[in-house]
Amino acid sequence: MGNILVIGSYNRDTVLTLARFPEAGETLTAAGMAHFHGGKGSNQAVAAARAGGQVSLIAAIGDDAPGEAACALWAEEGIDAAALQQMGASTGAAMILVDAAGENQIIIIPGANAELSLPADFAPPAGITVALAQLETPQAASAALFRALPAARRILNVAPAAPILPELLAATDMLVLNETEAAILAQREALPAALALSLAAETMREVIVTAGAAGAFWARPDGVVIAATPPRITVADTTGAGDAFLGAFAAFIAEGLTPEKTLRLAVTAGALACTQPGAVPSLPFRAAILALGDH
Ligand code: RIB
Repeated sequence: MGNILVIGSYNRDTVLTLARFPEAGETLTAAGMAHFHGGKGSNQAVAAARAGGQVSLIAAIGDDAPGEAACALWAEEGIDAAALQQMGASTGAAMILVDAAGENQIIIIPGANAELSLPADFAPPAGITVALAQLETPQAASAALFRALPAARRILNVAPAAPILPELLAATDMLVLNETEAAILAQREALPAALALSLAAETMREVIVTAGAAGAFWARPDGVVIAATPPRITVADTTGAGDAFLGAFAAFIAEGLTPEKTLRLAVTAGALACTQPGAVPSLPFRAAILALGDH
């Protein structure tokens, strides 16, 4: 089992299901509303633990009921959240619209996530081989964590898409982003493999671009690309698919699986996460990932 350290957000997700997204100025009636655990950092930590990783999490929550629920989730999932920070601000929240095709629109209220920082005397747990960060918590904290783990594979999920601080990119080994985020970062539209290649050449980092049913493309700065295609599934809700990919990727690469097999299992995890509503309820367990993706 590999040791994985995740730094990132926790949000309480409120999900509204609709036939279609509203136009500007339009009022629609939702078919339903549900609350789930969410936040890209926490989701990825849960996904990595369910895929078989030993996971530690650095996150920030408020002194409130959603914060308490987050702690209960991490305990239940076997995630070490000893480095947890409790803030004056409220626990983060997200409002998610899901349409009939399972696509989503997400608005985040950062709350405590925006205050996450790394103490000057922070010492990472021993034996970390993979570190994961996203862009829902301050980039300076992720950069400090990555700098403290020079021997780990340091993976930055560029989500939500935003310019990356030079100090964070300098301490990052690999970027993972979806095709929409990749087009924003590259400032052009192109096929996902082409975006992965050009971002890898530009940043001199390994880059994975995920592209839903089209799979994922892992490019190295020297121009080599590995691709994997997910199994065909019926989409209920794509929320959390990227997080399932990241968590499974971290768990399987930390175990020492080959890049090809790791990518195949990660796209399988992403696909499985689309088959159920909500982020955390849909994050797949190791047995399901292996049953569908280990061939
Ligand atoms: O990646 C999905 C997540 O994005 C949701 O759980 C939501 O909280 C936002 O962070």
